[in-house]
Amino acid sequence: MSTIYPILLQPHKVLSAVSEPAPGATPQVLETLENMLATLYRADGVGLAAPQVNVSQRLVVTDLGGERPDGKRDYSVKAPKFFINPTITWASDETRSLQEGCLSLPGLWGDVVRPSVVRVAYTDRDGAAVEEEFSGLGAAVIQHEIDHLDGVLFTQRMTKLRRDIAMGKWARLRRNILADGADFDVFAAETGVIKAATEQSRKR
Ligand code: NI
Repeated sequence: MSTIYPILLQPHKVLSAVSEPAPGATPQVLETLENMLATLYRADGVGLAAPQVNVSQRLVVTDLGGERPDGKRDYSVKAPKFFINPTITWASDETRSLQEGCLSLPGLWGDVVRPSVVRVAYTDRDGAAVEEEFSGLGAAVIQHEIDHLDGVLFTQRMTKLRRDIAMGKWARLRRNILADGADFDVFAAETGVIKAATEQSRKR
């Protein structure tokens, strides 16, 4: 049985910190990753980095689902990936703008420009050293998650004007989450653990 972790809301000191290297594919690391994956599914996200669940280690889980023939994502297909100590080894000069969101700023979306193709070296769940190329959504997601390991949130990658607007919006969203809860379990430093939204409020 997996543990669902509460997800930290921005701002939180662990979200802004540089995470420590993980010791490798140890039983404890794999247990953390399994729990992170359960948390990712609970929160209906595509990527989660360990600092978001108050673990300051270089661990990431993603699940982009499958791709339908029309090119849209099919999230009923499960395609989980575990990344232990991921690092970007190469990034394309070509960039692409994609709309991003983050489980630590739920409800906030914004366009972020990033390299459109990256190569990532990491240790997989079997302890093997892997180097893999990512493009499209996968490239944006893994860059977003690796940023978390360095204490960087997607809003910091936005232009200043867009970031100022986004942070004003986030301040309002955050107040509502602190008052009403979120669709998944969140942890806010001021209030302690916020219980999951009730069935009734979740339908809104
Ligand atoms: Ni995020």
